[in-house]
Amino acid sequence: MSRHDSQSPVTVEDTLYERLGGQDAIDAVVEEFYDRVLADDDLQPYFADTDTDELRAHQKAFISYVAGGEEAYDGPGMGAAHDHLNVTAEAFGRVAEHLDASLRACGVDDPEREGLLSAVADLQDDVVTA
Ligand code: HEM
Repeated sequence: MSRHDSQSPVTVEDTLYERLGGQDAIDAVVEEFYDRVLADDDLQPYFADTDTDELRAHQKAFISYVAGGEEAYDGPGMGAAHDHLNVTAEAFGRVAEHLDASLRACGVDDPEREGLLSAVADLQDDVVTA
């Protein structure tokens, strides 16, 4: 029986996380995203006090947060999490561009890629604290 049968509890309610391909697909995007953000001299200062493992965890939390991951995020809200970081609109835009490029490089389909980027854009007012 397909999980999309009318009997199934999971129908059109699939989260973006599931549509992206679940944990393995997300992990591949996280690796790509992490490499791109770290290689960006304009973003590096924001993460200067963040160690490698924490940064990788951030990229993963970032995507899970906006896509609706398996592990519920129970940390501070996005405003509180970024309040002290003085994130500029420019930095936010660069992070979103790296995410876009990572999703493309990993072969994520357009509807899912656009869905994730749109969910990220919705958080701009909370995350941009400069
Ligand atoms: C929609 C966009 C974003 C989301 C969903 C997001 C998500 C998160 C999450 C879930 C945390 C962890 C909060 C905690 O557990 O304490 C966090 C912290 C953080 N975020 Fe973001 N973030 C976003 C954008 C950005 C941007 C644009 C920057 C910088 C350019 C940034 C830099 C940081 C830093 C430096 C931390 C603290 C990391 C640490 O030292 O542990 N974030 N973010």
